[in-house]
Amino acid sequence: MSNSRPIGVFDSGIGGLTVVRALSHHLPHENIVYFGDTARVPYGPKSAQVVREYAAQDTDVLLGHDVKMIVIACNTVSAVALDVVQKRAKVPVVGVIFPGAEAAARATMKKRVGIIGTIGTVTSNAYPNALRQIDPAIQTFSRACPLFVPLAEEGWIDHKATELIAKEYLFPLTLEKIDTIVLGCTHYPLLKDVISRVLHQTVTLIDSGEATAGTVSRLLDELDLKNSSKLKPNLQFFVSDVPFKFTEIGEQFLGQKLGKVHRVSGFAA
Ligand code: DGL
Repeated sequence: MSNSRPIGVFDSGIGGLTVVRALSHHLPHENIVYFGDTARVPYGPKSAQVVREYAAQDTDVLLGHDVKMIVIACNTVSAVALDVVQKRAKVPVVGVIFPGAEAAARATMKKRVGIIGTIGTVTSNAYPNALRQIDPAIQTFSRACPLFVPLAEEGWIDHKATELIAKEYLFPLTLEKIDTIVLGCTHYPLLKDVISRVLHQTVTLIDSGEATAGTVSRLLDELDLKNSSKLKPNLQFFVSDVPFKFTEIGEQFLGQKLGKVHRVSGFAA
């Protein structure tokens, strides 16, 4: 098995670039192939059945690139279709739920954890289940925040409207006296400042993508799969559609220039 083979990362769209950003930060020598299903985003409001079908197809795109590991950047897919990807791929698969839950369990002092995500992620109860498995004494309080996705994509990361909506969504969680909150969606790390401000800076924010990058790094070590080359890595980006403003938004999520983006056909909405 060659360790220079890329890590495959997939997401429902552009948001997973926040996870690529975290991976590149923790693992600066790893080659990465990214697939974003931009033609069919968002997955958040879709039924689990449809998301599972999409996840299988997304996995096949990455397997076509001879990846050594698959990282499911999308919280919604990780919540409802981790088993689909694991069954399909003969390589190790990492979703974002368990690493995010582990980081939250480590952070909470009062054992009161808030979880925010898409409707699909929240309805699945994947985070509460994972947290209960890690520490049955932890109490969880979940809230779907679907409007955060278009707001982040619009670049309204520090905007009055975003703050108002954040207050509306997060107020019930403040009443529960949470001390930790899981940002259970690829887009939410972009809204960290607003979320933290609305929670009066007293709540620890857990970025599930960041936590996942740590898990991936440990797993690569354990499996002796880390790329030993110290050359500049090759980051390749594939999407099922190149919508308007794709590069501009993508670079905001990735935190660097995107370079060439390739379109994969056959993923009609
Ligand atoms: N990537 C999705 C997630 O992390 C958010 C966008 C969508 O709804 O597809 O759950």
